Amino acid sequence: MRIDILTLFPSMFDGFLNNSIIKRAIDKNLVEINIVNFRDYSKDPHHKVDDTPYGGGSGMVLMVQPIYDAVMDLKDEDTKVILLTPDGEKYNQKKAYDLKKYKHLIIICGHYEGFDDRIRSVVDFEISIGDYVLTGGELPSMIITDTIVRLVDGVIDEESHINDSFNPNTNLLDYPTYTKPREFMGLTVPEVLLNGNHKEIEEYRLKESIKKTQEKRPDLLEK
Ligand code: ADE
Repeated sequence: MRIDILTLFPSMFDGFLNNSIIKRAIDKNLVEINIVNFRDYSKDPHHKVDDTPYGGGSGMVLMVQPIYDAVMDLKDEDTKVILLTPDGEKYNQKKAYDLKKYKHLIIICGHYEGFDDRIRSVVDFEISIGDYVLTGGELPSMIITDTIVRLVDGVIDEESHINDSFNPNTNLLDYPTYTKPREFMGLTVPEVLLNGNHKEIEEYRLKESIKKTQEKRPDLLEK
């Protein structure tokens, strides 16, 4: 799978791409992630990418030309284009599974006051990561890329996806986990996890998942 992220701030991605599971997935060629500065596509003599809004108002608006040209240059018949915007469809784990199916994604990060609305003409999905406004789409693009990459075959142990919170097949929260020591400041590990009986452990975990979901996110059980 290939993900191209269009941004004006490529260095924001340095830490994201060079650590932990994402770095390992790239090194193992399980995913290709390209950070593309769409300023490079500007036809303006000064590589301008934004301008004042028609009709007046505060802030600067991203111009359609550099982003349009970048998308046209990078896309082929297998590509889906995502625009990150607070007014997009709310992101969730189900959407991560949907996006994982595509061979190539282009993610457009807005910045400043917003973008020329005509950018929407090249977009397949408009996504928001929540009902709040960020300074740009860079953090949302990392969040979305992270959720997709960990679902790509071979990136992490597949069994762990099954128990992920919000897995669309179960719609449950993950069960509680423990590690050494067996006792910490009087708090103990549930006895069932120590007895080596896999069937009992499985039943206990499912019960705990349901209990936790009932307590914390009853709305998930209604789905
Ligand atoms: N850009 C600014 N805020 C955003 C949000 N909540 N989701 C996606 N993109 C954004």
